[in-house]
Amino acid sequence: MSKTGAMDLASGLGGKIEKSDVLSAVDKYEKYHVCHGGEEEDRKSDYSDMVNKYYDLVTSFYEFGWGESFHFAHRWKGESLKESIKRHEHFLALQLGVKPGQKVLDVGCGIGGPLREFARFSSTSVTGLNNNEYQISRGKELNRIAGVDKTCDFVKAEIEIGDGLPDIRLTTKCLEALKQAGFEVVWEKDLAVDSPVPWYLPLDKSHFSLSSFRLTAVGRFMTKNMVKALEFVGLAPKGSQRVQDFLEKAAEGLVEGGKKEIFTPMYFFLARKPE
Ligand SMILES: C[S@@+](CC[C@H](N)C(=O)[O-])C[C@H]1O[C@@H](n2cnc3c(N)ncnc32)[C@H](O)[C@@H]1O
Repeated sequence: MSKTGAMDLASGLGGKIEKSDVLSAVDKYEKYHVCHGGEEEDRKSDYSDMVNKYYDLVTSFYEFGWGESFHFAHRWKGESLKESIKRHEHFLALQLGVKPGQKVLDVGCGIGGPLREFARFSSTSVTGLNNNEYQISRGKELNRIAGVDKTCDFVKAEIEIGDGLPDIRLTTKCLEALKQAGFEVVWEKDLAVDSPVPWYLPLDKSHFSLSSFRLTAVGRFMTKNMVKALEFVGLAPKGSQRVQDFLEKAAEGLVEGGKKEIFTPMYFFLARKPE
């Protein structure tokens, strides 16, 4: 799916972290979590460090396996993962009813996959906001390659301070919070509910797909061994395998959460400020 290869994965691994510091960054990142002895208070006070370490460590894996857009999507039968992701980005542009030339802000924009597709689909100028420097530099490079660098850009900023990894809220709580903040909610829905293809299917080990081969059990097994070899010969920094391990654990958790219907990455709402 993604055009990035093994060497891109290895060279991007660690993002802005010095290659010699990747192993200690993995250690520190893991220790933020309860299963590694971490405390909620540290996650909150060091929120920015935790998020930045995470995205420095995982971005090249995401790009290698998932592509330039790091989100899930409602998916029809017969649609590839890539098609469903692009359609979701077009859906967002349609819902916002944007007109050519308008300016749009994408908060938490990753490396800008959604932003580029949105801008090309709707002829708008999109600014991506992100607190991770590595993703911004990667996004700028990809904007240049895609030819949208004159109309789209990035700003490095923090949108939330001191609230790292709060408990996952119920969608009803999100709706309440929107209303409390004074928004008028036009419509809202968990788009995962009637998705003909479950959002977590690409990560489900019992599923096989040629078009998203790198996400399948065989693809992940091959990536694991490739990362092991790259780390062994020194082409990937020390600690790379541990990043792959915690991503594997995350993928398993997502699939389980999806199957049990206790987690959704697809809660959509359209809200506006009252006139
Ligand atoms: C799961 S990624 C999604 C990226 C993008 N929306 C996409 O679909 O490709 C979440 C993004 O939010 C950014 N982010 C997380 N916390 C942030 C914060 N407090 N301030 C700004 N950006 C943040 C991360 O750096 C990352 O780029």
